[in-house]
Amino acid sequence: MLASMDERRIQRAARQSLRIDQLLGAASVPLGSGGEMMELLQTAAPPPPSTPSTSTPAAHAPARPARQPATKTGVLQAGGRADEPLPADTMTLDEKIAALEALATEHAAQCPHCSPQAGKLNMVFGEGDPDAAVMFVGEGPGADEDRLGRPFVGRAGQLLDKQITAMGLEREQVYIANIVKTRPPANRVPTPAEAALCMPYLQRQIEIIHPKVLVSLGATSAKYLLSNPKLQITKERGTWRDFRGIQLMPTFHPAYLLRAYTRENRLAVWDDLKKVLETAGYPVPAGK
Ligand code: URA
Repeated sequence: MLASMDERRIQRAARQSLRIDQLLGAASVPLGSGGEMMELLQTAAPPPPSTPSTSTPAAHAPARPARQPATKTGVLQAGGRADEPLPADTMTLDEKIAALEALATEHAAQCPHCSPQAGKLNMVFGEGDPDAAVMFVGEGPGADEDRLGRPFVGRAGQLLDKQITAMGLEREQVYIANIVKTRPPANRVPTPAEAALCMPYLQRQIEIIHPKVLVSLGATSAKYLLSNPKLQITKERGTWRDFRGIQLMPTFHPAYLLRAYTRENRLAVWDDLKKVLETAGYPVPAGK
């Protein structure tokens, strides 16, 4: 018999907790009190980093895939249609890990946007808990991400890390990906054509992870995920949207926040993230 939503949530939380314990070698993981976000709200914008991020990839993040010959069938084709609700979340953790690894391999070999650039640019597939309740989606890799092959490791990524910590979570507990998995030239916004080529892999990634909540970071991510090219992030942020049957919270991109580091903007993002925590079933830190 299928487990109820609550049972699945408890099982998922237990698995996550166990996994984090294993990752950290700790008996338990303290939950943040929101103090970190208070600190973010009170302080000036973080200075540019002088050294690359030292955070380590999540234990289950797929290794950078080797290039393989294209195949006609595979993990991508196993997915549902992008305009239909996500298929039911029936995979075990091990199945999710295997499916993400296979998808990363397929993506490296076949993505019409990314594979022609292989050798010049790193593909940034995404990383985190394959069974994450919360999945963040940014725009595309920047120079730091391209260099390291990991999402959100530059200055914006450091702010995202602080936000995740303020939520009482570890970076390894969420999943982080982008609309396009290869850096657009000169760090420009991905074109609709580029996004259309790469998006099926993100769609399938979301199907496999099947988060409870998606957080789109910035206007580009929200526009492509919600298929609304006219979307204005200043109007849409903070309001729940539907993405194929799961809840999506549009919020400001951390890079925008760094440029417009006002108390108002920081409070707005923190409000969005508290809604995300509540809907994902996590404790919501007290305070602003
Ligand atoms: N900005 C993004 O949108 N994604 C990254 O991975 C890094 C910066």
